[in-house]
Amino acid sequence: MTKTVKNVSIDFLLSTMTESLVLAFSGGLDTSISVPWLREKFGYDVITLTVDVGQGEDLKMIERRAYLAGSSKHVMIDAREEFAKEYVFPALRANALYEGKYPLATALARPLIAQKLVGVAKSEGSSIISHGCTGKGNDQARFDITIKALFPSARIIAPVREWNLSREAELEYASKIALELGTKSEYSIDQNLWGRSIEGSTLEDPAVEPPAEIFEWVRSISSSPDSPEDLDIGFEDGVPTAINGNPADPVDIISTLNSKAGMHGIGVIDHVENRIMGLKSREIYEAPAALTLIEAHKDLEKLVLTRQELEVKAMIEAKWAWMVYSGLWIDPLVEALNAFIDTTQKRVMGHVKIRLHKGSCRVIGRESTKSIYNLSLATYGENSTFNQRSAEAFIEIWGMQSRLAKAVAK
Ligand code: ARG
Repeated sequence: MTKTVKNVSIDFLLSTMTESLVLAFSGGLDTSISVPWLREKFGYDVITLTVDVGQGEDLKMIERRAYLAGSSKHVMIDAREEFAKEYVFPALRANALYEGKYPLATALARPLIAQKLVGVAKSEGSSIISHGCTGKGNDQARFDITIKALFPSARIIAPVREWNLSREAELEYASKIALELGTKSEYSIDQNLWGRSIEGSTLEDPAVEPPAEIFEWVRSISSSPDSPEDLDIGFEDGVPTAINGNPADPVDIISTLNSKAGMHGIGVIDHVENRIMGLKSREIYEAPAALTLIEAHKDLEKLVLTRQELEVKAMIEAKWAWMVYSGLWIDPLVEALNAFIDTTQKRVMGHVKIRLHKGSCRVIGRESTKSIYNLSLATYGENSTFNQRSAEAFIEIWGMQSRLAKAVAK
């Protein structure tokens, strides 16, 4: 006969006491205070997971902080290569800029982290997954949707969302329990290979200029080098494979361009964006590699793709960015859009020369064996093969409907 306390068996209580969950742990404020909260409030055994997506932080420190916060087991997964190849490069092939501005760094990393959370939960025999997202942002949707798609029976606990705390209250809680934090920053920062986002505090007033000290990847124009730097970016299948003729892997190429373009003052984005739930928010991003690569990639596409392909691709790109921003990475539409994009990328190969100088990234030349730019047709010189006389008949027919409509419109 099992003893009961208020109709609940002690065995049940003990089993819930030791139930484990897996928490996505970045070492920042939200995830750090989540560990003691989950332990104290529910008695959970908290397994922390940090996924390296190129955030460039001291992972040993993060591990130490996880244990200090009360983690019972810390797992670290190096997913940089997977992130670059399977998430960032598809975004580049899609020239993905949400609302024409934001290269989606955070939005791309969330489904990957969610997939790793599910993997660790399953291997640890846990069916509870936790993350430090607030109830106001986009990241909660991105995590929850991917987790539920990959592990439908999982339960999700988002302490900060449930707790409904302000950032000030979170800082106060952390200091009350003497929790060591990686940052005392008043800003909320998220970073990975594809970019860095900074939000909150003084930035919440869209009229206020971002203070210089928030920038870490992009130099100010005044402190950037006086001499320009030219780079040759080699592309194959719509993705970069070499810089200045030296083949490099995806992570290296992105990191190199982050430091080179960032040094020349390229990559700051100041954006008032529409969040998934309709809130408008002011966001600051640093994305030197993303902006440089998208510029070069778009330029090469103009050399090799037809007018019709470019026109439809622009529509597909906007939808792709919207879907990924909105947390719908696992939606079959994304796969369908990727299929279209992949077809177009087979001819996106060649070289783009760019000049980095004082905040500007300018394409200064491009070439491709798949180019459909035809010099003998285009030239204004003597030996053009284009028959100018055929233009007159073409224009006669081309403008026919417009002329007829104009004539009857009175
Ligand atoms: N607004 C961006 C997005 O939704 C960036 C969010 C960054 N998250 C953060 N915790 N600072 O993708």
